[in-house]
Amino acid sequence: MKTFRSTIHIRSIQPRYEATPDLHWFGGNPFVSHLVHALSFLFPPGEAMFVRSVNHFKDKVTDPDLRRAIKAFAGQEHLHSQSHYDFNLWIQTRIPEAHDYCQRIAAGIDRNYARMEKKKPIVNLAVTVALEHITAVMAATFLSRPDMLEKIHPEIRSLFIWHAIEEIEHKSVAFDVYQSVGGTYATRIWGLVVSTLLLVSKTLYYQGKLLQKDGQLSNWRAGLSALRDCFGGGGFFTVLRGRYLDFFRRDFHPSQHDDRDLVETWQGKLSQLTTVKVIGRVEVP
Ligand SMILES: [Fe+2]
Ligand SMILES: [Fe+2]
Repeated sequence: MKTFRSTIHIRSIQPRYEATPDLHWFGGNPFVSHLVHALSFLFPPGEAMFVRSVNHFKDKVTDPDLRRAIKAFAGQEHLHSQSHYDFNLWIQTRIPEAHDYCQRIAAGIDRNYARMEKKKPIVNLAVTVALEHITAVMAATFLSRPDMLEKIHPEIRSLFIWHAIEEIEHKSVAFDVYQSVGGTYATRIWGLVVSTLLLVSKTLYYQGKLLQKDGQLSNWRAGLSALRDCFGGGGFFTVLRGRYLDFFRRDFHPSQHDDRDLVETWQGKLSQLTTVKVIGRVEVP
C-alpha cells in the first residue's frame, strides 16, 4: 500500500492565553471548551510518557533514519508538554481545583508507566503507538474542519493548530519503533482498546468536574450543541471513526493516511496567526 511521510520540524510558539477573555473559548460553549481542557490535562504527563516509552527501546533501533526521527519526535513532544503545562496553568487561574486534577492525572500515568516498565515495557510502547494514532487522527480531522477552527479564540487556535501539525509529522515514529523491536499485532490492538477506554473515561470524568466547578453542568443547551458538534452528521468524532478503525487492519501503517497537504496548508496559516520559530528539522525518507 502507498505511504506518505512528512518532514519533522521542531517549532516553538508563544501563545498569550491571558489575551483570551473567556474560559468558554470554543464559540462560548463550556461543554466543548472543558472537554478540551480535560484532554489538555493529560498532555504534559502523557507526552512525557510517550517519549520515555520510545526511548526505552532506542538502543535496539539500528536504522539511522529512525534514530534521528526518534530525536525529533522527543523534541516535539517535549515542547508540546511544556506548552500544555502553561495552558493548564492558565485554566487553573480560572478554576483552582484544576491544579489538583492535573496532579492526580500525572501521578496515575507515572504509576502505571513505572509498573509496566518493570514487567513488560513493550506494553507501554503499544499504548504510546495507540495514543499516537488517536492524536494523529484527531489532528487530521481538526485541521480538516475550518468551520470548527473558526469558533476557537485565535490564541488557543494557534496552540492546537501547532500541536496538530506536529502530531501528523511524527505520527509514524512510535509505530516504526514498535515494529522494529518485534511488537505483535495482538498487543498493538490490546493497546488501542485499553488506551481508548482510559482516554474517554478520564477525559469525560474531568470534563464533568470542570463543568461542575464552573456551574455549567445543567446548561443543557450547550450540552446538546456539543453533542451535535461531536457526534452529529459531520460531527468531529463521526468523521474520524473510519480512520480510527484502520488501525485494526493487520497491514496498517500511519503513513498510509496522506496528510501532507494539511501540514503544508496549516503551517503557512500558523505563521500568519502567531510567531513560529523552527529550531530543528529532520527529513523522513
Ligand atoms: Fe504532542
Ligand atoms: Fe505525538
